Amino acid sequence: MAIGIFDSGLGGLTVYDAAQRRLPDQAFVYLGDNKNAPYGVRDADDVYEKTTRCVGRLFDEGCDLVILACNTASAAALRRMQESWVPRKKRVLGVFVPLIEALTERRWGDNSPPREVAVKNVALFATPATVASRAFQRELAFRAIGVDVEAQPCGGVVDAIEMGDMILAEALVRSHVEALLRRMPSPEAAVLGCTHYPLMEDVFQDALGPGVRVYSQPTIVAESLADYLQRHPDMIGSGTETRFLTTGDPRSVASKAALFLRRKIPFEAA
Ligand code: DGL
Repeated sequence: MAIGIFDSGLGGLTVYDAAQRRLPDQAFVYLGDNKNAPYGVRDADDVYEKTTRCVGRLFDEGCDLVILACNTASAAALRRMQESWVPRKKRVLGVFVPLIEALTERRWGDNSPPREVAVKNVALFATPATVASRAFQRELAFRAIGVDVEAQPCGGVVDAIEMGDMILAEALVRSHVEALLRRMPSPEAAVLGCTHYPLMEDVFQDALGPGVRVYSQPTIVAESLADYLQRHPDMIGSGTETRFLTTGDPRSVASKAALFLRRKIPFEAA
């Protein structure tokens, strides 16, 4: 009925927010698995099991199209879901590919062989599970050659954001950036490969310095979704009401969400 947006917790709200601005008349159902966040420290089977359970819940809500607004789930579970789990007539899309298309300046569906691109040194910041999956490097290799990727697993950042402890989150971001710059002193681009990190984008940019272009997912994914719906209007759905569901405590999730989006987000129990 509406388009589903799923994340392990609050981070997907950054994608929801951009999608809602880009598609103001579109209804969405957001589901955060806050009870089980963070996913970034779980193994791939666990992420798969939790992601399919939540996406199944969004299918039950009548969503035909679900966006995995979670890099960890996109990296660790999406391919397996698409190959053997997603029912016919339903679609699940991830947030990884649009980001890589933006970085490599490719358009959707451009299946030409990988080629040289402008950026040569890319810093990737993501959860430990996303970094371990090497999904970013794999997807990038389909599209570009000669790009050196240095990945930093940013342990603790998602937990701090989910707890609403932005001081701790900032300190952790700065130390993760420092650690990466020791290994790659002059990246041209930095990819924020976790949907929680746009909430800390200013800190990443400040710690990296003005010469580094920071790619953050929300607007890139929103643009890609608008493009997808133009090509697949049957996936728009007939829902008119946007809803926010959580597996956690709706009141506490709603109060943290309001801090991030600076408006009231009425969460209900999933
Ligand atoms: N925001 C998610 C991501 O994009 C999940 C982070 C987590 O739960 O560890 O990876």
